[in-house]
Amino acid sequence: MSSVVQLATAYRSVPASRLALLGTGVVGTAFVERYERLQQGNPGLPAFAWLANSRVLHDCEGTPEQALENARASLPNTSDLPPWAETEALRRGDVLVDATASEIVADRHAEWLARGVHVVTANKLGSGGASIRAHAIADAVRTSGARYGDSATVGAGLPLLRSLRALVAGGDRIHRVEGVLSGSLAWLFNQYDGMRPFSGFVREAREAGYTEPDPRLDLSGEDVRRKLLILARAAGLSLSAEEVRVESLVPVELAALAVHELDGALELLDAPFATCFKDAYRKGEKLRFLGRFDGEGASVGLQALPADHPLCGGSGTDNRVAIFSDRYREQPLLIQGPGAGAEVTAAALLDDVLSIANG
Ligand SMILES: NC(=O)c1ccc[n+]([C@@H]2O[C@H](COP(=O)([O-])OP(=O)(O)OC[C@H]3O[C@@H](n4cnc5c(N)ncnc54)[C@H](OP(=O)(O)O)[C@@H]3O)[C@@H](O)[C@H]2O)c1
Repeated sequence: MSSVVQLATAYRSVPASRLALLGTGVVGTAFVERYERLQQGNPGLPAFAWLANSRVLHDCEGTPEQALENARASLPNTSDLPPWAETEALRRGDVLVDATASEIVADRHAEWLARGVHVVTANKLGSGGASIRAHAIADAVRTSGARYGDSATVGAGLPLLRSLRALVAGGDRIHRVEGVLSGSLAWLFNQYDGMRPFSGFVREAREAGYTEPDPRLDLSGEDVRRKLLILARAAGLSLSAEEVRVESLVPVELAALAVHELDGALELLDAPFATCFKDAYRKGEKLRFLGRFDGEGASVGLQALPADHPLCGGSGTDNRVAIFSDRYREQPLLIQGPGAGAEVTAAALLDDVLSIANG
């Protein structure tokens, strides 16, 4: 084969063949349910080959729902290796959906892509983690022809990443991106009225499934840091995690506790938030947890904004993001909508699968 033909082969897009799912938790379950519903009317979806969690891998020769039920009911894995470690189960052209929050899984994204396996992910640790991993993923996409579907990682499928990439592809420079990027923190600050204790709202958000089971993961700002990294990298900025200044909302005493001690100590949040709220209220301002990057740097933290500020709008778990670029200089492009929840996340994953399957 001549080198020109070899090059053409390497860059040719890889047609999608079969589907595999890692993660059978809240998002994985919603994904399987939506897949079954969509499959009725959409012959364009790839066939479900297998699904796995940290304990077991099940093939989907019956229905994916049956495999899901079996996987969810299985006993802990006693081997040192994850049950999907033998990824010969993955072939060139397969679509691997990552519905975990696992570093081990994110570490394999680049390798799978390099082998021509498409990766669709809700896991932010791929392109929202270490720079070296994000670069490896981008390189593998460039050279293999496999695709990386990441629209579920930020804004649960809102057209955020898509819009940024379209602006950059159209020759725009991105000047600044800022906004409310956490659905759970959006809900907390939309609800908190300064009258009832903040800890009560945190418990309520956890019970509604808006926060992680350990709400410190949301309150620490770590989740927003990862989303900001994904957005910045999509905008063409080579930002590392250490370059994002993060102001955690978790007091040191609370950060030090074990998960089982947490609930009894959430009241530690009440006094500091009551003070913040009172100060903002006196000035007619509202509290919003924002992520922001521009040419100067990147930051994540709580801010008090004038009530009529564009980023104060929205309700419930809405994300609200402003993009400033060459063409949106004075008035930003504003994108708003529900940015959390298993249903919208699963829908975003399936949209990416369909987009790959339809070439
Ligand atoms: N929940 C939401 O509303 C939401 C919204 C947007 C994005 N996300 C993102 O979606 C992802 C999944 O969230 P979730 O709420 O569904 O989490 P979850 O309910 O905790 O489920 C996580 C799943 O990942 C599996 N897992 C963990 N390590 C694994 C490994 N090494 N190999 C294979 N499977 C592994 C777990 O297996 P076991 O069952 O064996 O423990 C579990 O099935 C996360 O990255 C999250 O940040 C979630």
